[in-house]
Amino acid sequence: MWRPSIVLLLLGFLSSCEGPFSALNPAGDKAQIIATIFWILSGIALVIWLIFISLQFYIYKIRRGPHEKKKTQLFVIGGGAVFPLLLITISIYFTLRPLPTLVAKAPVGSLSVRVSGLQWWWRVHYLVDGEEVELANEIWLPVNEPVQLYLESEDVIHSFWVPSLAGKMDTIPGRTTDLSFTPTKTGHYRGVCAEFCGTGHALMQLDVNVVERKVFDEWLARQRTPVTVSGGRGEKAFLTSGCIACHTVRGISDIGKLGPDLTHVGSRYRIGGGILHNNKTSLLKWIDHTEKIKPEVKMPSFHMLPEEDKKHLSEWLEGLK
Ligand code: CUA
Repeated sequence: MWRPSIVLLLLGFLSSCEGPFSALNPAGDKAQIIATIFWILSGIALVIWLIFISLQFYIYKIRRGPHEKKKTQLFVIGGGAVFPLLLITISIYFTLRPLPTLVAKAPVGSLSVRVSGLQWWWRVHYLVDGEEVELANEIWLPVNEPVQLYLESEDVIHSFWVPSLAGKMDTIPGRTTDLSFTPTKTGHYRGVCAEFCGTGHALMQLDVNVVERKVFDEWLARQRTPVTVSGGRGEKAFLTSGCIACHTVRGISDIGKLGPDLTHVGSRYRIGGGILHNNKTSLLKWIDHTEKIKPEVKMPSFHMLPEEDKKHLSEWLEGLK
């Protein structure tokens, strides 16, 4: 009975090393350093465990009975003071040595992105050629190029964490903290808020897409482009149903600054602060049941809108690629 459960347990441990949320699946220089520290400390822990298990085995199974007093005293001093001191020194050395590299800033002129934490989503600003482009809950980065993130908060303390790329960094109201790293593998990674920040804390996620420079440039150019007025029914619903009080769609309306910028919302992987796959159905569901999906969220649900309006609105939003 116990064997299958142990195998299942081990498989569980192994599978948790993979995946877009894993710190043990590093795809950035800083995440690599952190993963290395983890394996070194785990190795030390394993050595200690093996030594103690072997000693227990020796005492209970091989040499039972009284032991020589002098040897026992030496063992107590060695095992109780010298050995732990040595191990702690080695652990501290391997933990502190990479610290200066972990906190180092990206070289001047590197790509710079400003990220703000809010209950419960991320506002993202790219600073390109002196112009700020606002996006939400999604960051794209060129592979093998350092990035400098400037982290802020618009309400309470959050913590920005993309485990596969770098360590955590708090976002603190009234202050700017920074985090820099170099993504080393293209791919899709996920991030979370790592500091309890209210009811929706676990529903505050983001997507990070690491791509080749050319793909990144094309993506950013597309994100900067405003939307052209179509005069369609979805767009009309957006303009007349109250959406514009909080949301901006550049080219259509830029009054709303409270909520996420929706200029190219259709191009994003997820909506609702990184929790729902982005498609027409999710958009409609979000408009209809906002508070059910994310309790205490600032956006009220718009279930009272005519069904046709909601349908066209979600279709229009999905089309903003
Ligand atoms: Cu934001 Cu937890």
